[in-house]
Amino acid sequence: MTAEIINGQEIASEVRNEVAKKVQLLKNKNEITPGLAAVLVGDDPASQVYVRNKGRACDEVGIYNETFRLEQSATQLELISLIEKLNVDPKFDGILVQLPLPSHINEKEVIIRLEPSKDVDGLHPYNVGKLLEGSPLFVPATPFGVQTMLLRSGYDPSGKHVVIVGRSQIVGKPLAALLMQKEAGANATVTLCHTGTPDIAVFTRTADILVAAIGRPNSITEDMVSANTVVIDVGINRIPDVSTKSGMRLVGDVDFEAVSRKVKAISPVPRGVGPMTIAMLLANTLKAAEHHNNK
Ligand SMILES: NC(=O)c1ccc[n+]([C@@H]2O[C@H](COP(=O)([O-])OP(=O)(O)OC[C@H]3O[C@@H](n4cnc5c(N)ncnc54)[C@H](OP(=O)(O)O)[C@@H]3O)[C@@H](O)[C@H]2O)c1
Repeated sequence: MTAEIINGQEIASEVRNEVAKKVQLLKNKNEITPGLAAVLVGDDPASQVYVRNKGRACDEVGIYNETFRLEQSATQLELISLIEKLNVDPKFDGILVQLPLPSHINEKEVIIRLEPSKDVDGLHPYNVGKLLEGSPLFVPATPFGVQTMLLRSGYDPSGKHVVIVGRSQIVGKPLAALLMQKEAGANATVTLCHTGTPDIAVFTRTADILVAAIGRPNSITEDMVSANTVVIDVGINRIPDVSTKSGMRLVGDVDFEAVSRKVKAISPVPRGVGPMTIAMLLANTLKAAEHHNNK
């Protein structure tokens, strides 16, 4: 049997169209244009691509956006003073600090300086707490994308056993916090696995929904899944491939070929969670603009 493919690209495109319509309405009725400031420190090639893609996505839905670039050698103080300016700049409803930051900068000390109502990535401790409490202002874009993908493809996590592999601040932990809530579209039994879990297959085999957010190709293999599992692959890994022009290829954390022959449904990489993350960032920026203008 071959699994149903959960097409993140298509679902993301639906979300983007909905955001575009609402942005247009906000502009026409209230003369409000949502704005997003992206902050990029250094010259990490992957980060440059992500920021460029986010900027293009904003343009497409009518969100005003600017990218603020700092040199790799910029100090923490310089970065914080930029954030403080953006915090009070009314052009921007959202501020996105592209991670990772250079190693001489302490990410936590930077994130805490964001104005929480502009923290569209949902990383500020205030927003982390609101999510855990069950009343989020912003759900971090990747977990929000995973939940939206599941719901829109007919796999409501409510009452299901969701196994998440990976406990990062941007994916695993907020996804667990989101899906454990006693709320519509959540209400799941959540198991969170990590490097301290002795045998993750014991858990992954019992999953109704399995989310891989590990950052290592082929971490989830066929023997670790069951026929009824829905698999969401968050991983983005570059591996060598001589058949491509660049000599590289993007893959997720799941052995897609073998696992997709066994499970009920699976999201691919690319065209899976990646486009959903961008779409949900747009949705969060729109929400921030509505919040700032009491709409
Ligand atoms: N599609 C998107 O939009 C999107 C967004 C964000 C991230 N990503 C991708 O998702 C992946 C994960 O990103 P991240 O930021 O969450 O990564 P991360 O911060 O490196 O966290 C990886 C997590 O996986 C766990 N882990 C690593 N090896 C493991 C193993 N062998 N068994 C069990 N757990 C293991 C780690 O456990 P410990 O905590 O014990 O170390 C950690 O919690 C990466 O490929 C990243 O590029 C994609």
